[in-house]
Amino acid sequence: MKFFIDTADVDEIRELTDTGMIDGVTTNPSLIAKSGRKFADVIEEICSFIDGPVSAEVAAIDAPTMIKEGHKLAQIAKNVTIKVPLTVDGLKACKVLSDEGTMVNVTLCFSPAQAILAAKAGATFVSPFVGRLDDIGLDGMDLIADICEIYENYANFETQVLVASVRSPKHVVDAARMGAHVVTIPPSALRQLYNHPLTDKGLDSFLKDWAGTGQSIL
Ligand code: E4P
Repeated sequence: MKFFIDTADVDEIRELTDTGMIDGVTTNPSLIAKSGRKFADVIEEICSFIDGPVSAEVAAIDAPTMIKEGHKLAQIAKNVTIKVPLTVDGLKACKVLSDEGTMVNVTLCFSPAQAILAAKAGATFVSPFVGRLDDIGLDGMDLIADICEIYENYANFETQVLVASVRSPKHVVDAARMGAHVVTIPPSALRQLYNHPLTDKGLDSFLKDWAGTGQSIL
C-alpha cells in the first residue's frame, strides 16, 4: 500500500519524508492557496526531493485548456501527475494526457459510476473523497469497497484507487483492508497512525526498568 501526503506545505513534506513512509504527494488548489506560495514553485520544490508521483491540479474547466495546463505543469518534473476533476471535460483531458504517457489523477470522485469512467479514460489514479461523503452522513468507505470490487473484475482497468479526503487512522486501516492501492493522508492523520497509549506506557516502564540496571548498550 502506498502512502501519499496530502499537503502543499513543503516543510511538513520534508519532515515526513524522513520517516521513509512517503511514496508521493497530492496537492489541490485549496492547499496551494493555504501555502501562500506560487503554484509552480511549490510543485518544483516538492519534486526536487520526492521521486514518487506529485499531483498538481489544473485550474481550467474546459478540456483544451486543461490539456494545455497539463502540458505546462508536466514540464516542471517527470513525476508531476496532472490532476483533473471528474467532469466530462476532465475525462477528455485525462484520456489525451494519459495517451501521451503523462500520469493523471482524476479527482473529486464520489460514485462508483464516476470511478468506472475514470478507469475507461486511462487515469493512473482515481481519487474518491471519503471524508467529504462522511461529512454529509454517508459512509465514504462504502465507495472505496465498491470501486475496489469493480476494478478487480476487469484486468484492463489499470487505474489505482487513491483514497482521498482522509481524516483519521481508521480511514487508512479500512482502505488497507479493502485493498486500495494508495491513501493520501494529511500530515496530522499520518502522525496519528503512530500513536497508541499502550506503546507510550510500555516504553515508559521499559525505560525506567532499563535505567535501574545501570547498563548502557553503547
Ligand atoms: C485529494 O487529493 C485532496 O487533496 C484531499 O484529499 C481533499 O481532502 P479534504 O476533503 O480534507 O479537503
